[in-house]
Amino acid sequence: MIYHDAIVIGGGLAGLRAAIELNRHNIKVAVISKVHPIRSHSVAAQGGINAPLGNHFRGVYDTWEKHAFDTVKGSDYLADQDAVIRMTRDAAERIYEMEHWGCPFSRTTEGKIAQRPFGGAGFPRTCFVADTTGHALLHTLYQQIIKFKQAAERKEIVIYEEWLVTDLVIEDGVCVGVIALDIVSGRLESFQAGAVIFATGGAGRIYGKSTNAVINTGMGIAVPYWAGVPLKDMEFIQFHPTTLLGKNILMTEGCRGEGGYLLNNKGERFLEKYNDSKKDMEIAPRDIIARNIVREIMAGGGFDNRYVHLDLRHLGEEKIMQRLPAIRDICKEFVSVDPITDPIPIQPGQHYTMGGIDCNTEGETVVKGLYAAGEAACVSVHGANRLGGNSLLDTIVFGAIAGSNAAQYIQGLAGKKGENTLCDTLKRAEQRINTLGKSSGNESYAGIKGALNNVMDDKVGIFREAPTLNEAFREVKTLQERYKKIKLNYTGKRVNLSLVWALELKGSLDLAEAIVAGALARKESRGSHFRTDFSKRDDAQWLKHTLAYYTPDGLRLDYKPVNIGPFEPKERKY
Ligand code: FUM
Repeated sequence: MIYHDAIVIGGGLAGLRAAIELNRHNIKVAVISKVHPIRSHSVAAQGGINAPLGNHFRGVYDTWEKHAFDTVKGSDYLADQDAVIRMTRDAAERIYEMEHWGCPFSRTTEGKIAQRPFGGAGFPRTCFVADTTGHALLHTLYQQIIKFKQAAERKEIVIYEEWLVTDLVIEDGVCVGVIALDIVSGRLESFQAGAVIFATGGAGRIYGKSTNAVINTGMGIAVPYWAGVPLKDMEFIQFHPTTLLGKNILMTEGCRGEGGYLLNNKGERFLEKYNDSKKDMEIAPRDIIARNIVREIMAGGGFDNRYVHLDLRHLGEEKIMQRLPAIRDICKEFVSVDPITDPIPIQPGQHYTMGGIDCNTEGETVVKGLYAAGEAACVSVHGANRLGGNSLLDTIVFGAIAGSNAAQYIQGLAGKKGENTLCDTLKRAEQRINTLGKSSGNESYAGIKGALNNVMDDKVGIFREAPTLNEAFREVKTLQERYKKIKLNYTGKRVNLSLVWALELKGSLDLAEAIVAGALARKESRGSHFRTDFSKRDDAQWLKHTLAYYTPDGLRLDYKPVNIGPFEPKERKY
């Protein structure tokens, strides 16, 4: 049995920031990551990270209060306001910390951190590193990890790369560790720890048309769910308005923040035709723009009935090369379009999991010693619709908070716990994996995964209604049954990706069930969840968080109140 004072699951921004915080508190910490940390999906974030620095002063100061209000309004009032206030208050400090650690932010002519407008603010609040902000932030944190690993006065930081966590181990309501598979050797191992932080990112790859990396299967959300930890607001899935046609690679909101237009097949900036986007146009919030793109296509304004144009040509070569160089490279590489001379074909695609592991503003879950942070968590700061630029902020703010709280918790512990429970869980996990390897079933991973992606894309998308949601629910249940007959392509021990994918597919299926059940139950429209059969927001019935529990008798839904603070829920007008 391996022991570390603290274990962080996930090597992206939230996980690395949590590990640094634990280490600063002199806690021995291990990071367990399915991939090398700098291959985590945080690396793909493009357009920026919000903080009310006010570096483009135009007569009105930006403040954390304004940032908080925009976030709450953007969330369609489902965000917990104590959490939003915590995030927006800490934002500037976390950004300057990243700057001091060496993050090469783009600069204003005065040398300050440059900011661009993103949806929900209406003025420049989003700090950025050209269009590779996640890449720069993740490398900055990884460099800090390397520095801390080498600093003699620090406690250890160990990184387990290419390990898949399969089980969370809880004894008498207290988290005592995890079971993980070393993908390279095929060995299952039990890890005992004083505290565990899940920071494994989102579940975007439950959908087919997604900006997410293929590693984003949702396994890190499913593992605590299977152990009895509730998930919150899983029905709220963000669809990014602009993803590259056919590939669904992110075309950052920064394209529109820098002045790019969305055009229909007549060359019109069609967002002006729709009440909720005519004022802010291309920098209206994401849920609104994504819906209006689909409406425009359905009304005959699209190309081939499936896409519209994102036009950057008027920005000119110099600006595109300076602010959006990676967008140009991606367009040239993947669809042979040069945005300097041609419009980019785009369509909306799944982008972000607003729901996740239910936790509070301190990152604490219902289980003592178990914390969550980043996209895997639902604190909830994003409510029903996240503002662009708030996810990177969420990772470093709540990564640091979860790390700090876990450190304090560990310092108060009397000793190690849970050896027997860990041994028993390890044996059960070994049996489960052996049974999978011996299966004589006739179902393939690819068949089930493809069918799941199609159901979610076609029936649980931007516009939802009871008949198709009911069909989706039945189809997910059928896929769960088919999964019982899954057969691995390969049964060897070393680097058995057939096994890894099969284990993760169970997580994707069970999370899909929670998404569809939550969407079916929520008979209103709020943020990203738009029901054509209940097209209005209904605060009287639905100003509440959904909780999904995994029980021996099947999925159970429950609800809990939203934490309303200074911002009274109002109609969300833009
Ligand atoms: O459009 C983007 O660059 C994405 C940003 C975000 O999701 O926060």
